[in-house]
Amino acid sequence: MRVAVGSDHRGVRLKGTIVELLRRWGHEVQDLGTHSAESVDYPDVAQQVACRVAQGEADRGVLICGTGLGMCIAANKVAGIRAAPCHDELTAELSRRHNDANVLCLSGELLNEDLVSRILQRWLETPFEGGRHARRLEKITQLEQRGCQPSEPSGSSRSC
Ligand code: RB5
Repeated sequence: MRVAVGSDHRGVRLKGTIVELLRRWGHEVQDLGTHSAESVDYPDVAQQVACRVAQGEADRGVLICGTGLGMCIAANKVAGIRAAPCHDELTAELSRRHNDANVLCLSGELLNEDLVSRILQRWLETPFEGGRHARRLEKITQLEQRGCQPSEPSGSSRSC
């Protein structure tokens, strides 16, 4: 898989570990920085990674900042991006099964490396379930286009 990876200064150490893991597992890594502990603004890096994915130049993206949250908020502003902040294997798995997340957002400071390795592996391996979830993703795509213009509700609300 082609994986674009980026971090701010608070995620740069963990980014190194992630890049190593991905290469060891046979993925093609696009390391988009940052490359030092010097302070950078996370939206700039989020844009780089999100656009690689949105434009089809990478299959998936991984973003790391102090909490994973700022990167996630920024990446989700790019049309076509479904970025998910994951903090354990279950959130990683569900972000793939239900949300077809194409960008994984991680905290560089709140997760140990062993857990990060398990989160990353689960996230890369888990397929999207499709079905009712595909209908919901289609609504998210429409939301990107319509913004605050009202849309017609559709689909069953019984199954979760
Ligand atoms: C940067 O200081 C910090 O705000 C950033 O790494 C991240 O945690 C933002 O959500």
